[in-house]
Amino acid sequence: MNQIQSYIKEHKNRFINELIELLKIPSISADSNYKIDVLKTAEAVKNSLENAGCNHVEICQTNGHPIVYGEKIIDTGLPTVLVYGHYDVQPADPINLWNSPPFEPVIKKTDIHPEGAIFARGACDDKGQMYMHVKAFEYMVSNNQLPCNVKFMIEGEEEVGSPNLGPFVKNNRDKLKNDVILISDTGMIANDIPSITTGLRGLSYVEVEVTGPNRDLHSGLYGGAVANPVNILAKMIASLHDENNHITIPGFYDKVEELSKEERAEMAKAPFNLENYKKALDIEAVYGEAGYTTNERNAIRPTLDVNGIWGGYIGEGAKTVIASKAYAKISMRLVPHQDWKEITDLFTKHFTSIAPKGVKVKVTPHHGGHGYVTPIDSIGFQAASKAYEATFGKTPIPQRSGGSIPIVSLFEQELKSKTILMGFGLDSDAIHSPNEHFGIFNYLKGIETIPYFYKYFTELSK
Ligand code: BES
Ligand code: MN
Ligand code: MN
Repeated sequence: MNQIQSYIKEHKNRFINELIELLKIPSISADSNYKIDVLKTAEAVKNSLENAGCNHVEICQTNGHPIVYGEKIIDTGLPTVLVYGHYDVQPADPINLWNSPPFEPVIKKTDIHPEGAIFARGACDDKGQMYMHVKAFEYMVSNNQLPCNVKFMIEGEEEVGSPNLGPFVKNNRDKLKNDVILISDTGMIANDIPSITTGLRGLSYVEVEVTGPNRDLHSGLYGGAVANPVNILAKMIASLHDENNHITIPGFYDKVEELSKEERAEMAKAPFNLENYKKALDIEAVYGEAGYTTNERNAIRPTLDVNGIWGGYIGEGAKTVIASKAYAKISMRLVPHQDWKEITDLFTKHFTSIAPKGVKVKVTPHHGGHGYVTPIDSIGFQAASKAYEATFGKTPIPQRSGGSIPIVSLFEQELKSKTILMGFGLDSDAIHSPNEHFGIFNYLKGIETIPYFYKYFTELSK
């Protein structure tokens, strides 16, 4: 057993208990009722950075939830790693589908996590993964193994689109100056198949409102004679995909990066079992854009999905009514070169243009961001790859993810540095869903792997 392994063995229970304490605070950024809990979490993160060995830590106020910043500068001649993560979490609802309360963490064994997993909102996304960095840093400091400078920027608004992080980064370019950005907020293929995320999709998120008559109407007296906003909205949404599941918005695909045959063949080498995939989701068939595989559909192709739709009567029993308004929340996942603001405009124009006479349509953009692709020949990627080899005994597979961390492209633009995405979660960890969890194996393996990244990155930077 090497030094880091024995350190983890010795402190394992404390590492788990500290994470559990952090998971007990409901830091739901989207819901203003939890504002104080979000702040409490920021303070807990600040304290943890201080205790782990940062020599400067602060809570930076924003127009929304604060950003926790910490650093340990040992020698300005050495490289600097900037760690980004988020301490905010998604809302826990639907709460009745949780097997244990979302903010009362419990450890349970599962088929995929025979060593146990911590069940709680934020366990994997992103408190657990963020906290691996704090504990890896604690190890490096207390064992004289920190080879370079570290800066931490842990935000509290990632799950609501990071509205205040962009301005913070722009106003603090010097303070955040770094040689590489390191993030654990993605996943890997399986516990015995390590992978490194090489790409993220962009995002455009909009809300639409369709208004028909100026008040709710009796569906017998008026039904059939006026446009029903719920019917119309359903029809409009259905028309956004054609029979091949291509998106019908004019211009939507104009800038989409097309991968070469070779790149697609390379992607197809990643282990994937369609039967297991369907079984895990209890579906008879997969569904998506014609001409692409499941892994292509969820990583290198853009999408349009309704995330929520409502209008009319949804209470108990039946009520005969034609609602005055109908609504939907729609997300579009974007791929490299698609500009999210341009796509938002294209959507707005198209969606407004397909509305029949008799209804009014309003489109409100929420948030968005560009996609990101990281080169695999950079020293950052090489260092990450060697780190996984050291702890998993296997070369990690580069893999593009379908998820989004919109701020990553802004980091590149403002800070001129590349991001390395060392994620240790699994797709089955149920992030954003009821019963979110994070494997103890994954948590501890992350803590073990991260110090190697620092070591190899510093060595390769020479
Ligand atoms: N950590 C996720 C993103 C993610 C998860 C990327 C798994 C790759 C693999 C992040 O917290 C997230 O949920 N992002 C949102 C976008 C954000 C603007 C709300 C997303 O992808 O829906
Ligand atoms: Mn996240
Ligand atoms: Mn998330």
